[in-house]
Amino acid sequence: MSQHELKNPEANQGGVNSMPVSNKQGAKRVFIETYGCQMNVADSELMGGILKKEGFDAATSMEEADVIVVNTCAVREKAEERVFGRLSQLLQYKQTNPNLVLGVAGCMAEHLKGQIVERAPYVDMVIGPDAYRRLPDLIQGQVEEAHDPAIDVRLDKRETYEGLSPDRQEGISGWITVQRGCDKFCTFCIVPFVRGRERGVPPRDILSQARDLAASGFREVTLLGQTVNSYRYEDSDFADLLEALVQIDGLERIRFTSPYPIDFTPKLIETMARHDKICKYLHLPVQSGSEPVLKRMRRGYTRVEYDKLVKDIRAAMPDVALSTDIIVGFPGETEEDFQLTMELMRETRFDFSYLFKYSERSGTFASRKLADDIPEDVKRRRLKEIIELQESISAEVFNSRIGKVYKVMAQGPSKKTDADWCGRTDDFKMTIFPYQEGLREGDMVNVKITRCTSHTLIGEIV
Ligand code: 5AD
Repeated sequence: MSQHELKNPEANQGGVNSMPVSNKQGAKRVFIETYGCQMNVADSELMGGILKKEGFDAATSMEEADVIVVNTCAVREKAEERVFGRLSQLLQYKQTNPNLVLGVAGCMAEHLKGQIVERAPYVDMVIGPDAYRRLPDLIQGQVEEAHDPAIDVRLDKRETYEGLSPDRQEGISGWITVQRGCDKFCTFCIVPFVRGRERGVPPRDILSQARDLAASGFREVTLLGQTVNSYRYEDSDFADLLEALVQIDGLERIRFTSPYPIDFTPKLIETMARHDKICKYLHLPVQSGSEPVLKRMRRGYTRVEYDKLVKDIRAAMPDVALSTDIIVGFPGETEEDFQLTMELMRETRFDFSYLFKYSERSGTFASRKLADDIPEDVKRRRLKEIIELQESISAEVFNSRIGKVYKVMAQGPSKKTDADWCGRTDDFKMTIFPYQEGLREGDMVNVKITRCTSHTLIGEIV
């Protein structure tokens, strides 16, 4: 997870990330703008790599782009509305460049398909998450002659994008997608419909990407998958994959997101606990603390089972940091159900959480069979209450770190000033400290914590 802002419930799924593609004389220039989760950021890097290989160029700004691709999220209605808003803004670039090709990629493309061009007729391409190999051809077709919008939303249960090199942004920390799609079919969730069936990327491909990352100076890798710990490829499971990755010299930290509770095996807990390189931070979405709600969500675990898992994880890794996702206002959620979620939050004391109001998504079981019956004002009140609770817990958790020393991987200047640098602790806490002569990105420094906010530690190098 790249951000912690509780105040912005879309933080997990609504971030914007922009990426140029590459450089060559006379080639078409593409600009990719990314919304949504880390997997989308990784998919934009993948699209960048595919386009680069086919001779497309980087656009460093929207103004100079021949092609703009917006990579989108569909997990909540708000994410889609935001993209429609953005598309209408992008129309201005068509006024200055009538040949501009505007594409919508990703989960919203897959979800709404042709409806996107009905509502935004100036969109030229709609590309689903399994169609990126065909992106260069789709663009070429639109560039060569103006015709009807190209819509390619075919899902392909074998597509793992093996053998392609993502065009990664430089840095010390990189993503590797190890699994695509999802087979869980939680009743609220659109992901299985827009990303198709679960499939693991072959370990050979993952390991070769990880070695390339290490060779080009990356120190940290985050493995991505919708339910990353259900990863399987032939005889290898997720713990086996981690075991192979920790052997790679140069990679100092390995993270992964997001694990699914029922796929957290004792073997995985043991593997995590045994390797210092595997960071002691887990994002473990629980969604609700109420047994009947979990059942209607078809999460596949009970509250008791989730609590037991947390207990086992903490017994094996006492310093592990935990975060979660919660949905309030799911169909039929009573005040009592909601209070059970509040109780779970007080008992589990997550370091931070991503908290959402239920948003009905067409095509899901819940949208077909369960009435979206919690009034908006109730949803809003519950969200506010749970945010306040998490804020107070986070403040306590972060405060308890004052006076302690943590190993931080220096990432670069802080957002506010070059005089301060930032980086994360092993357990994923953003930490700010004064810059010291000679410090380089990727260096490990010991930082003594002197102050904090509810989401950031502040200290100095010791
Ligand atoms: N409404 C609200 N939140 C949702 N999420 C997934 N689907 C929905 C929905 N229909 C949340 C879940 C998930 C996170 C990525 O987004 O909490 O873990």
